[in-house]
Amino acid sequence: MPRKMLVTSALPYANGPIHIGHLVEYLQTDIWVRFQKAMGNDCRYFCADDTHGTPIMIRAKSEGITPEELIGRMQEEHTRDFAGFGIEFDNFYTTHSDENRQFSEMIYSRAKEKGSIVKKQIQQSYDEQEKMWLPDRYIKGTCPRCKSPDQYGDSCDSCGAHYQTTELIDPVSTVSGNPPVLRESTHHFFRLSDYEDALKELFSQGYVQDSVQNKLDEWFDAGLKDWDISRDGPYFGFKIPGEEDKYFYVWVDAPIGYMASIKNYCDKHGLDFDQVWNGGEYEIYHFIGKDIMYFHALFWPALLFSANLRTPDKLFVHGFLTVNGQKMSKTKGTFIMASTYLKHLDPQCLRYYYASKLNADVGDIDLSFEDFVNRVNSDLVGKLANLASRSGPMLTKKLDGMLGTLDAEGKALLDELTGAKQEIIEGYESLNYAAAIRRIAALADVCNKYVENHQPWTTIKTDAEGTRTTLTAILNAVKVLTIYLKPVLPEFAAKIEQFLSINPLTFADVQSTLENHKINDFVRLIERIEKEKVEAMVEESKEQTLSQQTEEAEMQPKLAEPLEPECTFEDFMKADLRIARVAAASAVEGADKLLQLELDLGGITKNVFAGIAKAYKPEDLVGRLVMCVANLKPRKMRFGISEGMVCAAGPGGEEIFLLSPDSGAQPGQRVH
Ligand code: 2FM
Ligand code: ZN
Repeated sequence: MPRKMLVTSALPYANGPIHIGHLVEYLQTDIWVRFQKAMGNDCRYFCADDTHGTPIMIRAKSEGITPEELIGRMQEEHTRDFAGFGIEFDNFYTTHSDENRQFSEMIYSRAKEKGSIVKKQIQQSYDEQEKMWLPDRYIKGTCPRCKSPDQYGDSCDSCGAHYQTTELIDPVSTVSGNPPVLRESTHHFFRLSDYEDALKELFSQGYVQDSVQNKLDEWFDAGLKDWDISRDGPYFGFKIPGEEDKYFYVWVDAPIGYMASIKNYCDKHGLDFDQVWNGGEYEIYHFIGKDIMYFHALFWPALLFSANLRTPDKLFVHGFLTVNGQKMSKTKGTFIMASTYLKHLDPQCLRYYYASKLNADVGDIDLSFEDFVNRVNSDLVGKLANLASRSGPMLTKKLDGMLGTLDAEGKALLDELTGAKQEIIEGYESLNYAAAIRRIAALADVCNKYVENHQPWTTIKTDAEGTRTTLTAILNAVKVLTIYLKPVLPEFAAKIEQFLSINPLTFADVQSTLENHKINDFVRLIERIEKEKVEAMVEESKEQTLSQQTEEAEMQPKLAEPLEPECTFEDFMKADLRIARVAAASAVEGADKLLQLELDLGGITKNVFAGIAKAYKPEDLVGRLVMCVANLKPRKMRFGISEGMVCAAGPGGEEIFLLSPDSGAQPGQRVH
């Protein structure tokens, strides 16, 4: 009997793009789901954008759009990025949906009926100018312990101290720049401790991997605390029924979003959600990162218990991504967006590489660029793809594309491959993809040795039929290896299926053989990675950091209310604005948004890097008058020192409009 399964990945926040760190989880899940499907199981993959909360509200405001517009745009971007990496959801929904509102209200009211919701008065920081409550991360000040300035929230980056945000010295709201005030408010708390026994029972049934069980014991030892599930308006989220201007905290409706996505799918596919979720027919699994374990191991099942709903079977918890052994870094260019990766490299390479590193532990996995290039080129391209590319074209070009029959030696080769099936299945099932990939690469070695021994490129000159027998063995071996790799490399597999002229492969096809069968023309499967492409991707990621800063700055004028504090006449006069003539302009190698300008300020020359390359051609600028900030403190950039700034309007990208004076103005003249 095929198994029935519902699988989820954590819901990505709708306030930022998908990056290669996120992709560890989505690829891990996608591979598992594809594996289950290839095993003939009824496995469905769900996700959604996580759309509520203060950061989304603030970002929408700073862009001058509604939160709904922001989350709509992010949903499109996320959907495109996931598709680009072959991540195939059965449903990708949103937490800002009617289904989610209804479930959130239902779970809350059931928890309330059980007496698990209590109200408490708390003190919280409030921004009087912006008229909003401030989550910790929106307050910055000086560390009370080591006195480092500009520390955010309740911990210090510099000395590692943890404290109450109220202990920060000279705190200011990062939204308005004003000191926050403390205000009292009534919040709703969920009494987690009501479910301590039920949670312990759940864990005894293997809800989490052994390696994270210890963490849970620590939490139980520390005592389960009441959880603040409400936020005061303004807040982008769902209103708490029966309350004035109170909303569910985003972490309440986020996991409920798993159910909402499934409900939305069920309604579209004629399935009964209650039966699917509660009926016990389906296994339910959540893939998550170790940073959100508390929410998924304690709060989420406790909420479900409180509402008499079924709890999931298991959490699969993974670690973080490091790049070249370090945390992803914007300045190093290793904070790489999914969309940037896709501009430079083939998604199959990352799928293969992550798979070759992933296991069931919660340890971090490292993307080392050198290892990435070597492993993809030597194993995926050199061993696996090469097996097909050195035998397929020979059969189609020289032997009419017709497979022959298998001889004893060919059968022995295939027996060796098919014999590994169970081990590979276990590797995938237990999330030990690294072990599965190692086994597959070792099998490819055996096949390549077979090719070397038989030298089909030599025998083809004298023994066509013997060569056909050899190629038949090799292409059958390619078929088996393709089945093993298919969860990781769906695109590669689709090309092989097309080339071998066969139906989509599943694990049930491992034992069958292809004999006396006509195949199609060969299509190239995958290209080697050139290390220059990796370098270009890293460079572009560094550049994004620079241009994002400019973009953020450019967002400001769109705001309905000014965010900058007032500037006095004296302050304004500090900026030395001058007319300048562009004496020379050139593109900047490795930074496609920047132009290097040499500005003549009437005898003084300044070197300026300006983010205007998408809007202006260097040759069109030479000779033109512009307005520049002449006394800007020189800034060291990756390409050199920038000694000023040219003034321009517009949102950025291709829409940048340089400001220039009327005719008659002279280089060097001051702008008043
Ligand atoms: O940590 C995060 O990125 C959250 N957006 C994950 C939410 S998972 C689920 F609970 F919705
Ligand atoms: Zn400190």
